[in-house]
Amino acid sequence: MFLRNAWYIAAWADELGEKPLGRRVCNEPIVLFRDSNGAAAALTDRCCHRSAPLSQGTLVATGLQCGYHGLIFDGSGKCVAIPGQSRIPDDARVRSYPVVEKDQLVWLWMGEAGRADPGKILDFPYHNDRAHWPNKHACYPIKGNYMLMVDNLMDLTHLGYLHAKTVGGNPAAHVGAEMKTTRTSTGIKFTRWLRNSVPPPTYVKAAGFTGRVDRWQEFEWVAPSSVLQWTGAADVGTGAYEGKREGGFQFRLFHGLTPETETSCFYFWSCANGYRQNEPAATEQLYSEIAPTFVEDKEMVEAQQARMTELGEAGLVDIAADANRMTMRRFMERMIAEEVGARAAE
Ligand code: FES
Ligand SMILES: [Fe+2]
Repeated sequence: MFLRNAWYIAAWADELGEKPLGRRVCNEPIVLFRDSNGAAAALTDRCCHRSAPLSQGTLVATGLQCGYHGLIFDGSGKCVAIPGQSRIPDDARVRSYPVVEKDQLVWLWMGEAGRADPGKILDFPYHNDRAHWPNKHACYPIKGNYMLMVDNLMDLTHLGYLHAKTVGGNPAAHVGAEMKTTRTSTGIKFTRWLRNSVPPPTYVKAAGFTGRVDRWQEFEWVAPSSVLQWTGAADVGTGAYEGKREGGFQFRLFHGLTPETETSCFYFWSCANGYRQNEPAATEQLYSEIAPTFVEDKEMVEAQQARMTELGEAGLVDIAADANRMTMRRFMERMIAEEVGARAAE
């Protein structure tokens, strides 16, 4: 079951171009496009004439034209033209969804339209601040429930194993990391310190570390399914732990998970480097180091989903490293129960 009254990422802003984009979100077929004014729009991906998917249509001056018999719809879903007739019936319309474009992301509201509050969309201004945080992004389709990816980000002990060759580092350093978790009004925030640890291969390549480092990872989960990450490292004992973290080796990652179906999702992620900002090669290098790491996560989550589909979840045990993951899951269960309860009461 999905939380309906929530903002989900439907696309990167630059995915909305010359052609309409079909994307299933929370199990509903949606078509995304830019209307005649360039504003992002989202409609049910079904023409109200004979049910053709509108995502197979084309963009024309007045809106989105169905590829079957040529009806045209504007961004609000209203039919604005029918070939061969001047009268347009009032019910010639397609459902539209609230959409907001912010920080290079296209956010979509899947619940009751009257409750859509753009003020509740999280801020990630770094995507727009290319001078200080040059960045690059991608969207990975994953054949796994979106929460499995959020789980993955809530338990970083997997880094030392699954990502040993990239961002991982020594497994013992991860399991023994110093961790502090706090609740926020929209989720949880946790900071991990791997002090006096061996820098992982990715860090050495990017920053040229020659010895041990003090390494931090700050994660904020924002319900339902975004994770904001700030990570970096400094030569051991040079004051990073005490607060001197600006200016050194650091990067920010954005992770946004959007449910497609119960067993598939979209992983919208970006990386922004906060070092060597004037060198486009640094951004490229970070991206090309991170991208395969997230493929490792994708493949593990897909394998996990396949087993869960086959064998269910009975008999799975929780371990100490699951603490944040479980807090996150309980938070989500509460939100969904509240929403279902409110709907039942109406
Ligand atoms: S199905 Fe879309 S115009 Fe006929
Ligand atoms: Fe991972």
